[in-house]
Amino acid sequence: MPSSTDDLILVFAAAGKQSNSLIPPLSKAFTNLRLVVQSESSKVKLQAQYPSAEVVRADQGDPKAVRELFRGVVAAYYVGPSMHHQETQNGYYAVDAAVAEQKEGNFKHFIPSYAGLLIMTASAWLQKDHPILSLPYNHNIPNSHIFLDDLAEATIKIIKEREQHFHSEYPLSSTFPIAYKDLVPAAEKALQKKIEIRKAPFEETVKKLVQGQFKDNYNAGNLDVAERLVLWYERYGLNGSPNILEWLLNRKATTFEEWVEQRVKIARETQQS
Ligand SMILES: NC(=O)c1ccc[n+]([C@@H]2O[C@H](COP(=O)([O-])OP(=O)(O)OC[C@H]3O[C@@H](n4cnc5c(N)ncnc54)[C@H](OP(=O)(O)O)[C@@H]3O)[C@@H](O)[C@H]2O)c1
Repeated sequence: MPSSTDDLILVFAAAGKQSNSLIPPLSKAFTNLRLVVQSESSKVKLQAQYPSAEVVRADQGDPKAVRELFRGVVAAYYVGPSMHHQETQNGYYAVDAAVAEQKEGNFKHFIPSYAGLLIMTASAWLQKDHPILSLPYNHNIPNSHIFLDDLAEATIKIIKEREQHFHSEYPLSSTFPIAYKDLVPAAEKALQKKIEIRKAPFEETVKKLVQGQFKDNYNAGNLDVAERLVLWYERYGLNGSPNILEWLLNRKATTFEEWVEQRVKIARETQQS
């Protein structure tokens, strides 16, 4: 049976980058959302944005708290926190809680996401005469990217259609692999400015990544994760194909050119208003 609009849907990392694109359309498709964040400030912000949603603070590393999050839930979209040193254990806590709720409640669908993302700072670049793309990895290594509105549309379809997607894995990507340096011409065209590419120092980047997530409250395990992430992108990149996303959505995936034009347009409109 496909989902019902009043099913309770649980969303992890609800104030994060993925959820920022997912929750607006998800809140139109489903009336009952339980949104999980860690901090009080994100709770207050999200509750103001989605007054009818239940916004809950919990630590994904606490198995008892995670079990409580699943009470009454029918489907869960699971996103683990970035740079967490116990990502695997956190995932197991969520799976265990889902299995318990399947036995004790009406739980049907667990949807984990380990998305690769593309974030480019169009609005910051608009304000600069000489924008700089500062990356810590080799600019010639190709990467595939998923645009978050494409990911949100795929996610909502999967939640809505439910059984059709049981036991399926989708390596979703909006683009074929593209080297960072080859993204620059389309971004320059959209911004009408030259962009300088610079390589950011390894240690400085690693520190920024963990501090962005944990401020000064990070441990050696968090540094391990950030260091390996940067080294992976330096040597290999993440490569995928848009074919699976296009098959799933029954439309063409967003191209980088379309995405960057749209981001710049939104940034210009926001600056003018
Ligand atoms: N492959 C790639 O290129 C790539 C790039 C980026 C991310 N990712 C993956 O995407 C996932 C992260 O998604 P995202 O970027 O959308 O998230 P994000 O922007 O990093 O946001 C993190 C969210 O998770 C919440 N959170 C953090 N620690 C938590 C904890 N211990 N317990 C409960 N909630 C917690 C935060 O709550 P508060 O708002 O209250 O702090 C926030 O809402 C990770 O699995 C990461 O590995 C992959």
